[in-house]
Amino acid sequence: MPNAIIQVEEVNKEYGSGKKTVAALKDVNLEIRRGEFVGVVGPSGCGKSTLLHVMSGLEAPTSGRVLLDGVDVTLISERDLPKVRAQKIGFVFQAFLLIEDLTAFENIQAVLWPNEEITKQKQESMALEVLREVDMLERRDHFPRQLSGGEQQRVAIARALVNHPPVLFCDEPTGNLDSKSGENIMKIISALNKEKDMTVVLVTHNEDLVKNAKRILRMKDGVVRG
Ligand SMILES: Nc1ncnc2c1ncn2[C@@H]1O[C@H](COP(=O)(O)OP(=O)(O)OP(=O)(O)O)[C@@H](O)[C@H]1O
Ligand SMILES: [Mg+2]
Repeated sequence: MPNAIIQVEEVNKEYGSGKKTVAALKDVNLEIRRGEFVGVVGPSGCGKSTLLHVMSGLEAPTSGRVLLDGVDVTLISERDLPKVRAQKIGFVFQAFLLIEDLTAFENIQAVLWPNEEITKQKQESMALEVLREVDMLERRDHFPRQLSGGEQQRVAIARALVNHPPVLFCDEPTGNLDSKSGENIMKIISALNKEKDMTVVLVTHNEDLVKNAKRILRMKDGVVRG
């Protein structure tokens, strides 16, 4: 596919060894085009998070390969992987995973700290820009514990966006939120896809969340259909 931003080829992922081996992904082949919004649905334990981790380079597959924006993530050295990930992907987790002793503003800037080419002043302006995008400027000096779940997730989305990655991976982004905050988060994510042409891959066991997605991949026991 000429315009594919993610290509997953013959990927298998096994955990453990011997009798305890779990085949979390079985011969997965798929392609995702630039600008697509893809929903991945399936029951608990079917391998959704594993698929997202492997596609984003967070975990290595046992076999097969993953091309992310033309780069084979399975060939990148451990040392270079964090940098490639930082450029290519944003990741939003169900549990937000903000750093507790940093403010919202600092949580976002922290992503940029390893990149010494970006001045402190520039890092601050980049963080402010994404905080504005998720409407969290006013709460920027709050610590995570001083924010509601929905607000924490908005900060986490801003953090995922600050490097302007071409792909946003979301793993049950509304799983810890009440339905109203969840809708708000889904609106932000849809707008990023529609207005900024961001590629979004969103995992959920709640089919309602992805009813507007143009494409839905269904997973069962490590196998992807659709
Ligand atoms: N680190 C690990 N070690 C061993 N087994 C694992 C590990 N991570 C996941 N698994 C197993 O791999 C399978 C797929 O897990 P995965 O977390 O991808 O499921 P999921 O579809 O995301 O489920 P959920 O909807 O509950 O989040 C499960 O059987 C799980 O027990
Ligand atoms: Mg999961």
